[in-house]
Amino acid sequence: MIDLKDVNKYYKTGEESLHVLQDVNLTIDKGEFVAIMGPSGSGKSTLINLIGFIDRKFDGSYLFEGETMEKVSDKELSSLRNKNVGFVFQNFQLIENNTVYENIELPLLYGGKNFSQTSERVLEVAERVGLADKVKKHPKQLSGGQQQRVAIARAIVNDPKFIIADEPTGALDSHTSKEIMEVFQKLNKEGATIILVTHDPDTIKYCNRLIRIIDGKIIGDEVVAK
Ligand SMILES: Nc1ncnc2c1ncn2[C@@H]1O[C@H](COP(=O)(O)OP(=O)(O)OP(=O)(O)O)[C@@H](O)[C@H]1O
Ligand SMILES: [Mg+2]
Repeated sequence: MIDLKDVNKYYKTGEESLHVLQDVNLTIDKGEFVAIMGPSGSGKSTLINLIGFIDRKFDGSYLFEGETMEKVSDKELSSLRNKNVGFVFQNFQLIENNTVYENIELPLLYGGKNFSQTSERVLEVAERVGLADKVKKHPKQLSGGQQQRVAIARAIVNDPKFIIADEPTGALDSHTSKEIMEVFQKLNKEGATIILVTHDPDTIKYCNRLIRIIDGKIIGDEVVAK
């Protein structure tokens, strides 16, 4: 599904050029649950931003479902992103003034649905992440783990081709982290493709594959033993 070939990425600030991704070759298939680990500043977010159609300024090739990302316009890129990717972040990034229901509904509205067409789907995904009884609450009225479940529901509501989670358990205690990883694991067993950036070794066992990155280079790519 995702196929990066000889990808290099540079950040230029003034005179300096920082080589943040170096000769990255990476294939991710449908149904995989991939963990990406590496020190701070090693290029993990840069890599997933590129995979998630946020950034297209890089050298090398990105084939998504066999289609090249070269020559796509910014408009096409944002449409690819909306259609194909669900994002989950460390700090949840929910809209505080909206209810749980409205937070989950938003991507459907962006996708062109109108208000009368959303409720069945919103309630279905709320149920899948264990929030059926919380849809009328506001994010502030929820625990961190519950807020992250809202973010996961929002990420899957448009039925994306893959989910990118950038340290989704980084702000959670170990017990809540485990619960959130179990939500991801359940979604993966139901067919979701998930790319997880993590610093927490305890989260690896939920994944099928571990990629290690240092200084923008992939230095390890292994199956997670079960
Ligand atoms: N927009 C930018 N302009 C210039 N340099 C950047 C930019 N974004 C990131 N960098 C640099 O690129 C390198 C990789 O950053 P990146 O955010 O991908 O690291 P990371 O592995 O996600 O780190 P962390 O674990 O801290 O989130 C870092 O040295 C960072 O300072
Ligand atoms: Mg990062």
